[in-house]
Amino acid sequence: MLRTAICCAVLLALPWCHGLVTKEKPVVAHFIVGNTYPYTRADWQRDISLAASKGIDGFALNMGNDSWQLDRVADAYDVARSMDSGFALFPSFDMGIIPCREERDGDMLRDFVNAYHNHSNQLAFKGNPLASTFGGQGCYFGQPTVNEGWRRVLKRGLPAVHFLASFFMDPGIYGSMDSADGAFSWDSAWPMGNYDITDEYDVEFRKYLKGRTYMAAVSPWFFTHYGVDTLNKNFIYRSDDWLLARRWELLVSGRDQIDIVQIITWNDYGESHYMGPIASAQPGSESWTNGFDHQGWLDLQAYYIRAYKTGTYPRVERDRLFLWGRLYPARAHTQDSLKKPMNSEFTEDFAWVVALLAAPAQIGLRCGESRVVENLPAGVSKLRLPLVHDCNVVAILVRDGATVLRFEPPGFRFSTTPHAYNYNAFVAASP
Ligand SMILES: *[C@@H]1O[C@H](CO)[C@@H](O)[C@H](O)[C@H]1NC(C)=O
Ligand SMILES: *[C@@H]1O[C@H](CO)[C@@H](O)[C@H](O)[C@H]1NC(C)=O
Repeated sequence: MLRTAICCAVLLALPWCHGLVTKEKPVVAHFIVGNTYPYTRADWQRDISLAASKGIDGFALNMGNDSWQLDRVADAYDVARSMDSGFALFPSFDMGIIPCREERDGDMLRDFVNAYHNHSNQLAFKGNPLASTFGGQGCYFGQPTVNEGWRRVLKRGLPAVHFLASFFMDPGIYGSMDSADGAFSWDSAWPMGNYDITDEYDVEFRKYLKGRTYMAAVSPWFFTHYGVDTLNKNFIYRSDDWLLARRWELLVSGRDQIDIVQIITWNDYGESHYMGPIASAQPGSESWTNGFDHQGWLDLQAYYIRAYKTGTYPRVERDRLFLWGRLYPARAHTQDSLKKPMNSEFTEDFAWVVALLAAPAQIGLRCGESRVVENLPAGVSKLRLPLVHDCNVVAILVRDGATVLRFEPPGFRFSTTPHAYNYNAFVAASP
């Protein structure tokens, strides 16, 4: 970044002096600007430092059309620049919120591109500033087809843009969507039914993209619990069987054909897949997120990010244990005024454990009467512990007959008598 600063001061003629940041195999996190109403510059600084320290290259800024959101985004770009961080940003226009029927509705997007296309912290891909969406499959912008609508808005009379669409429809659409330079497959992050994660979406998208850019998704979890009086979303996606680790393993093994990875998410509390601190304004999700910090997942993910970027799983220098799971039985009934989330039968009662070991060791997992003991090799291992009765989860690592780590995360208590339906994950990482 020093290079950029110096050259921009003296030699504006060189291409890389026009700002923009490029990354090898970018890994970015979806960031809901709509949750940042109270954000100060210090908040952006904290998030950028933390994300960068875990190997995340940038944020995909999910934004609506409120003017205050544009102010927060301006702060984000400015703080990233002032930190001289090389941290990358790009817009993920939320087309569920931004109007897109009339041609003039596209002005907000075009104004954005004009304002940020050459910002020093704008992510570039294949030489051009990247712009993405959440949805937008129904946007005509006053044109006869959706493809022409997007072409009119992002491809005419503007600096060149690398446009990655994220439409919620059959990926076959991309075969004829020549306005898109590639696509982001949002739903590739979770199994869309009661089965383990696969790479079916990756395969399907690439078939129709035919060499254009493919951005794949990874997410640790999904639970949302809004009644009809609010957002009317009350369901889970299946997140059992170490979803975060399994999905990353698919991304690492398929990395030659995956250009960018987008983590869902940094701060979407409402859908329980946040991994950053619970620091921004919550969208009425307090009842299922308070007390459920997910930052342990960031540390586990740092390991996989390095593997994705380099093609080789890094050597583990220090033993780490990552434990997560629901605190209440999936089949329990409660006095909740809102009914059980849809698909609750897709999940089983286990603590999911990933061990990163510097050398072979024996692990003991325990919760009340439920016990698991296994001998593990160096590197990464996955285990699960059935959760049956009220109990506290404990993990013990033994090497050469001596206990090297005893981890009893405060708060990881399974209870068979919940007061409400909460399918969020309790997440704990050993120090
Ligand atoms: C960025 O682009 C604007 C026009 O969109 C131009 O005025 C400005 O000089 C450019 N800045 C750099 C550093 O290239
Ligand atoms: C945002 O879009 C909505 C329509 O979805 C519109 O009513 C509103 O005026 C827009 N706000 C701004 C600031 O453009």
